[in-house]
Amino acid sequence: MKRLSSYLAFFLVCFQTIAQKTTKVEVDATKPLVTIQPTMYGIFFEDINFAADGGLYAELIKNRSFEFEYPWMAWKHLPEAETRFNTQNELTIYNNSKGNPNNPRVVRVDKRDEKKSLGLQNEGFDGIGIKKGEKYDFSALARLNRGSISLLVEILNSKDQVIGSTVLNLLGSNWQKIEGVITATDTDPKCKINVFFKGAGQLDIDMISLFPQDTWKGRKGGLRKDLVQLLADLKPGFVRFPGGCIVEGRTLAERYQWKKTVGKIENRQQIVNRWNMEFKHRPAPDYYQTFGLGFFEYFLMCEDIGATPLPILSCGLACQFNSSEMQPLEELDPFVQDALDLIEFANGGTDTKWGALRAEMGHPAPFNLQMLGVGNEQWGEEYFERYAIISKAIHAKYPNIKIISGTGPASDGELFEQAEKELPKLNAQIVDEHYYKEPQWFRDNATRYDNYDRNRYKIFAGEYAAQSSAVASPENKNNWECALSEAAYLTGLERNADVVYMTSYAPLFAHVNRWQWTPDLIWFDNLTSFGTANYFVQKLYANNAGTKTIGIKSNGQNLTGKDGLYGAASVDEKSNEVIIKLVNTSADAQRIDLNISGLGVKTNGKVISMVEKDLKNYNTITEPSKIVPTESVISIEKGKTMLTLEPYSFKVYRIKK
Ligand code: AHR
Repeated sequence: MKRLSSYLAFFLVCFQTIAQKTTKVEVDATKPLVTIQPTMYGIFFEDINFAADGGLYAELIKNRSFEFEYPWMAWKHLPEAETRFNTQNELTIYNNSKGNPNNPRVVRVDKRDEKKSLGLQNEGFDGIGIKKGEKYDFSALARLNRGSISLLVEILNSKDQVIGSTVLNLLGSNWQKIEGVITATDTDPKCKINVFFKGAGQLDIDMISLFPQDTWKGRKGGLRKDLVQLLADLKPGFVRFPGGCIVEGRTLAERYQWKKTVGKIENRQQIVNRWNMEFKHRPAPDYYQTFGLGFFEYFLMCEDIGATPLPILSCGLACQFNSSEMQPLEELDPFVQDALDLIEFANGGTDTKWGALRAEMGHPAPFNLQMLGVGNEQWGEEYFERYAIISKAIHAKYPNIKIISGTGPASDGELFEQAEKELPKLNAQIVDEHYYKEPQWFRDNATRYDNYDRNRYKIFAGEYAAQSSAVASPENKNNWECALSEAAYLTGLERNADVVYMTSYAPLFAHVNRWQWTPDLIWFDNLTSFGTANYFVQKLYANNAGTKTIGIKSNGQNLTGKDGLYGAASVDEKSNEVIIKLVNTSADAQRIDLNISGLGVKTNGKVISMVEKDLKNYNTITEPSKIVPTESVISIEKGKTMLTLEPYSFKVYRIKK
């Protein structure tokens, strides 16, 4: 009986193998075709979904400087009392606008009774994530106006047990930074912090802050290590920053102004985050931008992870989905100046105004800025007129800076066609196309750039993501169908690397409890983070880009989706390898009769595979490794081999030439 069933199993395997379709695929590694730009696969960063404050920026205190619209937001008075009915006047907001006009509010503590308990409690960003054994830097700016007051700072876990504390003394009536270190005795993603005022007297306090010491590169007041590591692992060619619609602002006053994000942290003027109430179904009234992660920190991170910076600047036109507020054309000077000064901040000598500030902040060497974008996702005459003025002024002073221009919110339709017509007249160099489309669109459009005009501008696929439900729908999931469709689409971008110079998935980050927009590449909570299947697709492309494309064909045709088969191939001239990417979007396994010309007699390599039977499956914070790449080895004789592509699979082959 046992023998019979193994015979049956054997015949079944044989039958399936015969039934599988075999496709002959020819790869020509003897003729490198076009250069793949080092910027081909990059990152789009925007402070959406608590990506910066509450995310990448490792500050654990929310509303640390009491500048939210309601100053006590995220804070409780201790002993617990309604912050609105503060009848004792022991904890009040004092306006210190003469002392610091950018950050005027401080808390005035008037403690009359030495024996009475008085303090403040902060809730953090959906709690404070604390790890056992780790050290945390507490700090605040304070001045003692009279009497004698010390601070008892405690971290409480979600059971309200104290899991670390420190005591800090205040010395005098000048503003001073008080600092202490707390070592935690428990791990909990939902901690709180108490700051008790001991003694009697009056003090003013501001910038109450708590950071893990274990940040990216151990920088004080730095970035979350696990999140930067996920970015570094992508080996991105560039980082686009700060977005996204956040560049434009809902109104011009709320636009992103880089000059307000550099210099001393306490002097950076915070503003409301434009995503705080954008979606009724995901309101976030406590979402502000402290700019603790500002332009200096951004440039530094790019340098750390070996990516070219790509700042996107306001063109004097607020978000056209919101107010469309316009700066008059004859009053665009501040916007022009912002662009010129940013280039000086990044690249200027330390004898220039903005170069000197960069040096003062700790980086005398230039950041080597080579490109920037004028306007994000803007459209119509209003955009082109403003773009023309700003880009002309930039090129007059800095002819070598590459400028990115926008084509509006969609990669087709009237607005897009208008941009395609107008931008060449403005000598556009690289244009930013956005596609938030259904997965099928990605599978159907792998040929999008095959017949693009080679004599026009270059393409930056600056924001894209397959939407499993509908654009920006809260139902969207980072599922395997989306990731696989993106993998299929990317074969077309890579094949057309002579036109497509840059690509980036968007948005990048989302807090699992505080997001506004989904899908997103990387998700995190207060302690951990994980890459989606889409993240691993990006990673496989970015880590295996190669330097020049080579031909990959079946029956003389590119692999663009016939029978669900897509392909791209390149050579890496540095490592002397052939890189082949194959995507099978069909429900059937496919046999590939592969013939690579230009390989040695016997060559070895590796295969990196992503295979998942269930298209609706996706990684989660509790099961982050459901869909991850696996690696195996391959050896090839005389350039010939038979491969099997499982149903719904994406594979990268790296073979020594
Ligand atoms: O990625 C999210 C948003 O999508 C960006 O801010 C905007 O540019 C686009 O509409």
